[in-house]
Amino acid sequence: MFGDEYPAGLDVYSYVTKTDLRRFTAETQASPSDRIADIGCGRGGPGLWVSAQRNSSLIGIDIAETALESARQRAETLGRADRAEFRLGSFAETGLPAASVQAVMSVDALLFAPDKAAACAELARILVPGGRLVATTWDFHGQPVNRPPQVSDHRPLLEAAGFTVLAYDETEAWRERQLRINELMLQEVDALAAESGEDPVESAAHLKQQRINQDLMTRRVLMVAERR
Ligand SMILES: C[S@@+](CC[C@H](N)C(=O)[O-])C[C@H]1O[C@@H](n2cnc3c(N)ncnc32)[C@H](O)[C@@H]1O
Repeated sequence: MFGDEYPAGLDVYSYVTKTDLRRFTAETQASPSDRIADIGCGRGGPGLWVSAQRNSSLIGIDIAETALESARQRAETLGRADRAEFRLGSFAETGLPAASVQAVMSVDALLFAPDKAAACAELARILVPGGRLVATTWDFHGQPVNRPPQVSDHRPLLEAAGFTVLAYDETEAWRERQLRINELMLQEVDALAAESGEDPVESAAHLKQQRINQDLMTRRVLMVAERR
């Protein structure tokens, strides 16, 4: 499914690949004196990896305190605690001052922002002029169930928020990978539910809904935009 592309050891909760992470690292253009913000950082693996590659500092933001706690522990284990902090916040309200970070990254999280235009405006606000946003998310051609409103193309929102879009690339083999993961999880739903303590019927219904939602995805994009 992922093969060599699986970023083993990063404890990711996303579809991010090694190729994506290398691109994040290159495109942030962050230097050792810069700070990268990772919005929707989850358990911190991608942001910690990218910031370590660039030797930059990191501020991870997420709405889930349990994920942030794992991220802090991970930073400690990796010896990066002096260069990384993790705080509660959201796409709408990161809690960061204006022009306070030199790069923003976000892995497979923007689809959860209830208001995509407000999210783009907040990401532009926290970036210094010339700073880079690098993010993966999905464009949709229909509204998925149990998700906030989606958009068919993020580029107009980015431009309106004060970004110049530098790249907007469909990531390789994203659909095959996602469909296969969904299929395998459905096959193993009883064992997975037993392990997580969830109701197998509810888990199966969730996976079937996820499958329907996947059909509404037009593309998974990796976007690079520069704050004007
Ligand atoms: C699919 S996970 C990706 C986590 C991480 N980026 C990774 O690659 O492992 C999506 C993350 O977005 C977070 N999230 C959901 N809604 C959010 C919001 N409105 N603002 C910020 N983060 C949010 C979730 O708590 C979750 O950690």
